[in-house]
Amino acid sequence: MNTKRLSDSIEKALSDQMNKEIHASHTFLSYGIWADDKGYQGIANFLYRHAQEERNHSIKFMEYVLNRGGKPKVDAIPAPPTDPESLTDCFEGVFKHEVDNTTAIYKIVDMALEEKDWATWNFMQWFVQEQIEEETLAQNLIDKLKIAGGDRASDESLFTLDKTLQETPGDVPLAQEATGDNP
Ligand SMILES: [Fe+2]
Ligand SMILES: [Fe+2]
Repeated sequence: MNTKRLSDSIEKALSDQMNKEIHASHTFLSYGIWADDKGYQGIANFLYRHAQEERNHSIKFMEYVLNRGGKPKVDAIPAPPTDPESLTDCFEGVFKHEVDNTTAIYKIVDMALEEKDWATWNFMQWFVQEQIEEETLAQNLIDKLKIAGGDRASDESLFTLDKTLQETPGDVPLAQEATGDNP
């Protein structure tokens, strides 16, 4: 008896996304290594934590496909992009990667809607919300660097930025949580 509760196309899309999250993890790991090598240990630490988070996303996709009676397939992971040329380039790369990932997530939501696969649609809403967080986080990185002076920031302000990111949590407050007292 076939107990698979996913269409072949959704199973494949979810499995591809599992691999895509690993690629994101590799990308942030390689960015972290780049930052570490440049002496930015706080930024590196932030990126390493982010890499681990992407790996956790991958596991969520793996688990969901298995729970629904499907079988995800681990593919060859493309090489991460070349090293950034500057911190601006690095943070913009993080943002771009998140936006690309959001596009992929939305595609799966679309498919689930079309097939009326409400279980998958519901599962994907967690990722829709997560991507808002991750894009905001990446925007914050770009903003913080801009305030510090961008690629012409002084060593002193970069030192402070690096220290700040060492302790920056991996998540951000969402609009849904805002109140008048605590906007
Ligand atoms: Fe992710
Ligand atoms: Fe992400």
